[in-house]
Amino acid sequence: MTKDSIEKVLIFDTTLRDGEQSPGAALSISEKLEIAHQLAKLGVDIIEAGFPISSPAQFEATRLCAEQVQGPVICALARANEKDISAAGKALQAASRRRIHTFIATSPIHMEYKLRKKPDQVLKMAVEAVKMARQFTDDVEFSPEDACRSELEFLYEILSAVIEAGATTLNIPDTVGYVLPYEYGQIIAKLKQNVKGIERAVISTHCHNDLGMATANSLAGVRNGARQVECTINGIGERAGNAAMEEIVMAIHTRQDFFANLTTGIDTRQIYRTSQLVSQLTGFVIQPNKAIVGKNAFAHESGIHVDGILKKRETYEIMTPQMIGLEGSRVVLGRHSGRHAFVDRCRQLGYNLSENEVEIAYQKFLELADRKKEIFDEDIAAIISDEVRAVEQTYQLEYLLVACGTGTIPTASVRIRAGQETLQAAACGDGPVDAAYEAIRQATGKAPKLDSYSIRAVTEGKDALGETTVRIQNENGRRFIGRGVSTDIIEASAKAYVDAINRMVAAEHNGSTDQPKAVL
Ligand code: KIV
Ligand code: ZN
Repeated sequence: MTKDSIEKVLIFDTTLRDGEQSPGAALSISEKLEIAHQLAKLGVDIIEAGFPISSPAQFEATRLCAEQVQGPVICALARANEKDISAAGKALQAASRRRIHTFIATSPIHMEYKLRKKPDQVLKMAVEAVKMARQFTDDVEFSPEDACRSELEFLYEILSAVIEAGATTLNIPDTVGYVLPYEYGQIIAKLKQNVKGIERAVISTHCHNDLGMATANSLAGVRNGARQVECTINGIGERAGNAAMEEIVMAIHTRQDFFANLTTGIDTRQIYRTSQLVSQLTGFVIQPNKAIVGKNAFAHESGIHVDGILKKRETYEIMTPQMIGLEGSRVVLGRHSGRHAFVDRCRQLGYNLSENEVEIAYQKFLELADRKKEIFDEDIAAIISDEVRAVEQTYQLEYLLVACGTGTIPTASVRIRAGQETLQAAACGDGPVDAAYEAIRQATGKAPKLDSYSIRAVTEGKDALGETTVRIQNENGRRFIGRGVSTDIIEASAKAYVDAINRMVAAEHNGSTDQPKAVL
């Protein structure tokens, strides 16, 4: 096969837009920027950075990505109206390569009940929206929302019209995750045959996972001519999520017999690191059996499998952990490894730390190495997210004492530093964590609603670091995530709660008024 016959499937990452619409996701602007930089390193072609009209924080996150993230095209979402499109255009102004993605629903149920518009009105709005978007950029994507429950004849008509108006990418959303792979493939094939001017546009897939078909549907789309896939890291997204980027990319990569002349621009060795970063920052724990990036994806337990792997790896492994960047994950550091080895490992893991950040992280590493013999990559990632990437510390947990046991009422006392002030409180609770949280609430005078609480062992063994993630809600309904890491799980829990309160206070001080998105 010649190099010229190889075609690229564009990877359009919508982790920061559709992914962020996951119930409970609450990324700050700086966290979004950090993810966007990592997506650029991963090699995605397009980053959908946000939906600028939906809130000031969405606008700002999109604007900063456009200004600071180099490499991928930066895209912003807009409904088919003037206000949305000019907000998207404005937010994207600084991008060296920019795209506006405009959409309007085309299915009978959406047009009748949601939009209360007739098909000819919808068609007119779509054409006007694309023309408007073209005033900001030559790169315009159009989505007929709920395409897979739309009438095909109407899709042919509206898609032909938007191409004529200047759309360069046609995205075909299975908005409610309804269709099966064969059906989705057929829709793409029919559009390719029946839409006028389709050879001038890229066809894109956008599949949701309500029936667990998002990856299979996207790949069926690719087999039938789509050359862009919209997806998210770890498959996060609205309801059951979107197609998972790592699954799409590794399927194309691993099944070259099936996708013979197709490739992506993804550096697969960055997949694991990106997946971990998104999980840490969103607070969405990855299920252990998740394809490609789950903790067990490359673990072999049964004797027969282990024996087979030792004799010939391919007996039970279709990909290697190295391909997704897991090669060093079992490299162990300890107290005597030294600063140089530690810094080197951080660099290999993709962290670009300043001198000051290295110093903080290294001191924490030494403290941990006193308590724990072997330090794994996951421990280092936890230290960096807990200590180095911490927000401004309005409150610092200085002291925590918890008493609990069979037949006793759990009680906790805390001492918290707030600038020059020392705040103290003691409280009882249903359990040790509840008691500690009540004491923290009393000491700080802050009482956000606790939305969710989860704890996981970062690595294995009884000396493992425990990482707690909490999600709280302030009185305006805005959510904040907090994380805490310690070998003591009650301390990790208390640190996570204080971290979330610090993020809430920081956002309130900055006057950031991002509200939960209710626009789509
Ligand atoms: O699922 C969907 O229909 C969307 C559109 C906005 C493209 O996310
Ligand atoms: Zn979607």
